[in-house]
Amino acid sequence: MSQNEQRTAYRAKLLTFVGDPAETSGGACFEEDGLLVVEGGHVVAAGPYASLREQITPGTAIVERPGKLIAPGFIDTHVHYPQTEMIASPAAGLLPWLDTYTFPTERGFADPEHASNVAEFFLDQLVSCGTTTALTYCTVHKGSADALFEASEARNLRMVAGKVLMDRNCPEFLRDTAQSGYDDSAALIERWHKRGRQLYALTPRFAPTSTHEQLEACGALARLHPDVFIQSHVSENTDEVKWVKELFPGHRSYLDVYEHYGLLRRRAVYGHCIYLDDNDRARMAETGAVASHCPTSNLFLGSGLFDFDKAGSAKMPVALGTDVGGGTSFSMLQTMNEAHKIARMTGHHLTAERMFWLATAGAAQALGLEDTVGTLRPGSEADFIVLDPEATPLLARRSGLAQSPEEWLFAFAMLGDDRAVLETYAAGKRVHRRA
Ligand code: GUN
Ligand code: ZN
Repeated sequence: MSQNEQRTAYRAKLLTFVGDPAETSGGACFEEDGLLVVEGGHVVAAGPYASLREQITPGTAIVERPGKLIAPGFIDTHVHYPQTEMIASPAAGLLPWLDTYTFPTERGFADPEHASNVAEFFLDQLVSCGTTTALTYCTVHKGSADALFEASEARNLRMVAGKVLMDRNCPEFLRDTAQSGYDDSAALIERWHKRGRQLYALTPRFAPTSTHEQLEACGALARLHPDVFIQSHVSENTDEVKWVKELFPGHRSYLDVYEHYGLLRRRAVYGHCIYLDDNDRARMAETGAVASHCPTSNLFLGSGLFDFDKAGSAKMPVALGTDVGGGTSFSMLQTMNEAHKIARMTGHHLTAERMFWLATAGAAQALGLEDTVGTLRPGSEADFIVLDPEATPLLARRSGLAQSPEEWLFAFAMLGDDRAVLETYAAGKRVHRRA
């Protein structure tokens, strides 16, 4: 019997969610001595050991992880796998960074062998950081999406990905056309959307690199496939916002360009959302579109500060992303760390519970995947991680003095990275163990 079929009970501390801790008191559920029971790749039960011990039926394998924390696997809602090798490439802001590093790097993904090689390394990085689901951009090349999905399928990860659509304002060697982008995306949806754990995302890079015809074609595909994801960038950088105003005159705002083409809806995820106005935030909330806040990228590229208070007042769905290679870490713990600091800069306090929510159950809810991943709720796919509070001497010291679960979790968020991730499980099967 393979590892993911046998009933297995994991005993450790547990963290899961029944609601957003910012809105629901008791939204975060922390068990000091918990049990997680997994069978056939799904969660069977999760809760206090004392009340679930009868779930340990004859033949159940028992995995003891005393002192460790089991939490849902992290969800990175915005990342570019082809930019893995160009992480930490400095530039004077977004637009020069795209021209100098990003476009030349993405050219290499015309070679399927290179794409597969980077895709494997990228997934190694994700699981070593405890990330079990990511919304990833590929490149304009259809084969770059095949490479990522093939690598993900082989590990049985739940990934969302799409071929970039880009037919202007980029080098000739990275352009598709409205027609070829439509045809390639349609073929990839057919091949990969809902095949096993794979899901497709229509991926217009951002408004400046698509013509009116391409955005129209993308909107048509979106209408044909209401459960397919959409991912793009919006209002990340002041030069970018100005450029969009010139390229798309007559629109109320940058976000309105996407709305005009039918690209604001549930399962549409927009990276950054820094320079939105209240009207934009209200439209995000009304349509169910999701803001992916990418703090390490926003600081690295000097893009600006995301406003949690305004996002909250507007009830705009929010999740977290790494945005590697603009972001500087694949770790969602490091991403929480920087999110916390950006929130502080705007007078907002992000609790550890809320940061873990944003990186797990909150993201799943925003993406319409709340019955699938993001919690330890029975019936969910068993994507979970084992975090080690003694991963480093400093984390051990700080954790040892924590006076509450909130303080204990907060230490992970400020001091943790891939070293804190002892094990990562996808659909009940271990896909990473720290060396
Ligand atoms: N805007 C358009 N393309 C990109 C990209 O690759 N990264 C980031 N951070 N912003 C973008
Ligand atoms: Zn991005």
